[in-house]
Amino acid sequence: MRDKQGDTQQMNIIVVGAGYVGLTTACCLANSKHRVTCVETNKAKLKLLEQGLSPIRENGINRLLKQGLASDGLSFAPSLPKPLQVDIAMITVGTPSLPNGAAALSYVYYAAQELRNATEQDLILAIKSTVPPGTGARLIKRYFENTPITYVSNPEFLREGQAIWDWYHPSRIVIGAEDKQTADKIRQLYFDIDAPVVLTDITSAETIKYASNAFLVTKISFINEIANLCEAVDANIDGVTKGIGLDPRIGPDFLHAGLGYGGSCFPKDARALDSSALNKGYDFRLLKATIEANTRQRIMAIHKLKQALGDLAGKEIALLGLAFKPDTDDIREAPFLDIIHLLYEEGVKLRIYDPKAMENARPLLPTDITFAPDLHSATTGANAVVLVTEWQEFIQADWQSIKEQMQEPYVILDGRNALAQNKLIGLGFRYIGIGRRVQT
Ligand SMILES: NC(=O)c1ccc[n+]([C@@H]2O[C@H](COP(=O)([O-])OP(=O)(O)OC[C@H]3O[C@@H](n4cnc5c(N)ncnc54)[C@H](O)[C@@H]3O)[C@@H](O)[C@H]2O)c1
Repeated sequence: MRDKQGDTQQMNIIVVGAGYVGLTTACCLANSKHRVTCVETNKAKLKLLEQGLSPIRENGINRLLKQGLASDGLSFAPSLPKPLQVDIAMITVGTPSLPNGAAALSYVYYAAQELRNATEQDLILAIKSTVPPGTGARLIKRYFENTPITYVSNPEFLREGQAIWDWYHPSRIVIGAEDKQTADKIRQLYFDIDAPVVLTDITSAETIKYASNAFLVTKISFINEIANLCEAVDANIDGVTKGIGLDPRIGPDFLHAGLGYGGSCFPKDARALDSSALNKGYDFRLLKATIEANTRQRIMAIHKLKQALGDLAGKEIALLGLAFKPDTDDIREAPFLDIIHLLYEEGVKLRIYDPKAMENARPLLPTDITFAPDLHSATTGANAVVLVTEWQEFIQADWQSIKEQMQEPYVILDGRNALAQNKLIGLGFRYIGIGRRVQT
């Protein structure tokens, strides 16, 4: 079903959690003329938000935030108003990883309990947080039976860095509901969005979210494995990827060899699905292999540096890019975290630089790692440069002047296959990519 509702129906909405998903949800719904209150328990975040300042870096969010506050359509609060008088409540709290890989659902349970306690009149509770299949059914049984709350799964697929664009141009809206009337009400929430709608049951909606992420990480690990194979058989991943991606059954997206996936969702969701499947008696071996391949990909970067530099102890290496992808300051499970610790253990003298994510990384790293103020300070005197995140600033850098200030053997490990290989070789760099044929 593809439809656009057309008729505006203003609703009163409460959004619980003002992170990447919650703040985007709140700002966009307010921009669409719903009346939104967003609850955030983190006092520092709340203070910023009330002043119209976004605690997250997201294109366009500051403008929507200021507009929402100015129009009175958007407000923030430290806790739920009681009694709660809204049409729809949305849970957008985090579901991080437990040490065993399972999803930590304590924030979700807490928010659900609070909502139940505050609710006295009919409302729909739509959960946007990513929760393992079966969670909705358990939440209903535990908290919402014989209450005025009707539970819906409405998973979110937005990408950080383009969250607002994705909100208004989603590839699909997934609604898992027990009855059509409830699903229709959720559809009306997105009255101004033209997108295919998938109406299904709650557990299937939860499964769609995990299966989507599991498929994407499998595609990434698959192309990384093919890149490693290219190195073994002396093929070139660039041509191979093009040849594979032109097959419409496969497509070119997520077929870019590199240091593997990171970020706030892919790693934790892959682990959580593996754990939740096992918990239900199914050993999801393909997913396990995908996760293992991703870990191995980072270790292989160290191996490549050793091949190029010999003993790494005392070598000067500049690491470029901390954010898990360009255009965000989010460093959750970013590849640099593994790579930096492996290099540190080898006794490398490390200098790191990222255009936006330096402050987020600082508390997580040893104090004797140098945080360089800019690209040139990071690379000056380095024996090797490792490109971890493909920020435009790095792709468009003046590599000739960088080379002039480096030391032998002028190694560049392009962990994203993002740089112009032939040009760099022409400048005298010893270029190492991921599955790119070594030019002689
Ligand atoms: N970040 C993404 O790109 C993305 C995309 C799709 C889905 N998701 C999923 O959406 C969920 C949220 O992700 P996120 O990245 O926005 O998380 P986040 O950690 O950035 O934000 C969660 C926010 O909820 C707040 N919070 C926690 N408990 C609360 C409570 N009881 N009341 C009010 N506020 C509370 C936290 O302080 C935090 O600000 C996760 O399940 C995630 O997997 C994330």
